[in-house]
Amino acid sequence: MNRILRFCSSRLSLSIVPLISVQITHTVRPEPLLVIEYRKANPQSQEFSGLAMVAQRLDGKACAAEVEEELLLRIAACKEKGIKPHLAVVIVGDDPASHVYVGSKVRACERLGIQSTHIELAADSTEEQVRDAILSLNEQAGLHGILVQSPLPNHMNEEALTDLIDPVKDVDGFHPQNLGRLVQGRLDGMLPCTPSGVMRMLSWAGIETEGKTAVILGRSRIVGMPQSLLLGAKGVDSTVTVAHSRTQNTAELCASADIVIAAVGRPEMVTADWIKDGAVVVDVGINRVDDTSRERGWRLAGDVHPDVANKASWLSPVPGGVGPMTIAMLMENTVRAAEQSYIA
Ligand code: GUN
Repeated sequence: MNRILRFCSSRLSLSIVPLISVQITHTVRPEPLLVIEYRKANPQSQEFSGLAMVAQRLDGKACAAEVEEELLLRIAACKEKGIKPHLAVVIVGDDPASHVYVGSKVRACERLGIQSTHIELAADSTEEQVRDAILSLNEQAGLHGILVQSPLPNHMNEEALTDLIDPVKDVDGFHPQNLGRLVQGRLDGMLPCTPSGVMRMLSWAGIETEGKTAVILGRSRIVGMPQSLLLGAKGVDSTVTVAHSRTQNTAELCASADIVIAAVGRPEMVTADWIKDGAVVVDVGINRVDDTSRERGWRLAGDVHPDVANKASWLSPVPGGVGPMTIAMLMENTVRAAEQSYIA
């Protein structure tokens, strides 16, 4: 189905009323496309009547459900060989968001029949205690994946601890050996879960990356940096710019990009004027913002302002976009590690 990208140049300045609202069901996977036809409040006017588009939803939840279906078959094949994939998650301290994420990871394991071991250490634990936990998990036969939830308390050296994880059990893909393979363009190993989840979602939605310009907001070890390598890799072939806190012209860079990946952790920072008509926008942010209208006093907000939906051709929602994909990719890495344990 052809995308409708005709925007009314005067749409913003005129008083407009929605004329029709049509749900068109795709025969392919992505969510229904919502097309709204606008006309001027005065229907006699010749000035403009046209179609505007609301971005298609880049539905990570639906894509993750398909990934999980495929994983169920691979997990069954592992079990036929007498192997039950097993993931250990280590969390240190009381960060509420981290506990929510870890809870989601453990529940995904339960859903799929992956064994999980959940290790909780107090915030005032020593780095040596975390080190000992990692070394002991490295040695544990029948345990295939180790994840140390980030961030760790400030008194710990996260990178030094990551270095200790056995690379074959490094389901986060953060060990230098796995990141080094990624830099070399070898995409068949353990890839960091959030960026690889973004790539899977783009491919699932049939979004072209070859020859496109991509701007990544944020250069973190967990998302921005590996995302830039994946988008620029051979076969993906985007031209990538990484913008960060010292970048001078972030808004202009974004406004020229075909693909924008926002991973900065600043609620609704990316506004509609930063986005080119028809761009693909992926929102990696997941921020708690105060909201007194909610009983709990807060709501979740992405890094992208909701108005971007009036400019973009695709936009991933928060929640329900990148979050479920991160977990699905973690499950996939765990299953891959289990498969490799009997292939090796
Ligand atoms: N904290 C936020 N995202 C991640 C992730 O993908 N892996 C780990 N280990 N910690 C995180």
